[in-house]
Amino acid sequence: MAATSDELRSVPAITIRQMLESDVPAIHAIERMSYPFPWSEGIFRDCIRVGYSCRVFDLEGQIMGYGVMSSGADEAHILNLCVRPTFRVRGLGRRMLEHLMELAASAGVQDIFLEVRPTNTAAIRLYQALAFEQVGMRRGYYQAVDGREDAVVLRRSLPDRRPRPA
Ligand SMILES: CC(C)(COP(=O)(O)OP(=O)(O)OC[C@H]1O[C@@H](n2cnc3c(N)ncnc32)[C@H](O)[C@@H]1OP(=O)(O)O)[C@@H](O)C(=O)NCCC(=O)NCCS
Repeated sequence: MAATSDELRSVPAITIRQMLESDVPAIHAIERMSYPFPWSEGIFRDCIRVGYSCRVFDLEGQIMGYGVMSSGADEAHILNLCVRPTFRVRGLGRRMLEHLMELAASAGVQDIFLEVRPTNTAAIRLYQALAFEQVGMRRGYYQAVDGREDAVVLRRSLPDRRPRPA
């Protein structure tokens, strides 16, 4: 039987760490399994190089998923969130999203945004579970096999977690 979310959260072997350039080929293999229009390896390298928050799940040296977030003064954007297909529905997507939200809140970000395809039920359920709310729709935002697909824009406000001066 698959491990429950709580069991997996308590498995110390799965850690979240910084994404390294050397992880990119393994990440790209998961990316190609997961999206009809995957990011290139170059996009992941650019995200690391410009200093976006790029994190991976590492299980004894194997990449199990990843998240990429850009942050400005008040806003952050989740640019990618993905879990290896055989490790889905065990709480990892939620754990990575919570980790990125915590990073953003600690940096003083007030609102976190993301786009999702309206057909991506799994992702939408995850975002709703973490209190993201729809604030807009971008028409024809995504490439699709038969043309373009809209994007739902979601937002979640974050608590102020900046460290207080002593
Ligand atoms: C979206 C994605 C990251 C979710 O990761 P995951 O590890 O499977 O998600 P979790 O197990 O943490 O699930 C979190 C919640 O999402 C919901 N959920 C996740 N997968 C689901 C599915 N296939 N069907 C229905 N609900 C689902 C559940 O309600 C779950 O709630 P719970 O924690 O209260 O049980 C994963 O499906 C994925 O990598 N998809 C391909 C890439 C992608 O589409 N990314 C999002 C781009 S916007």
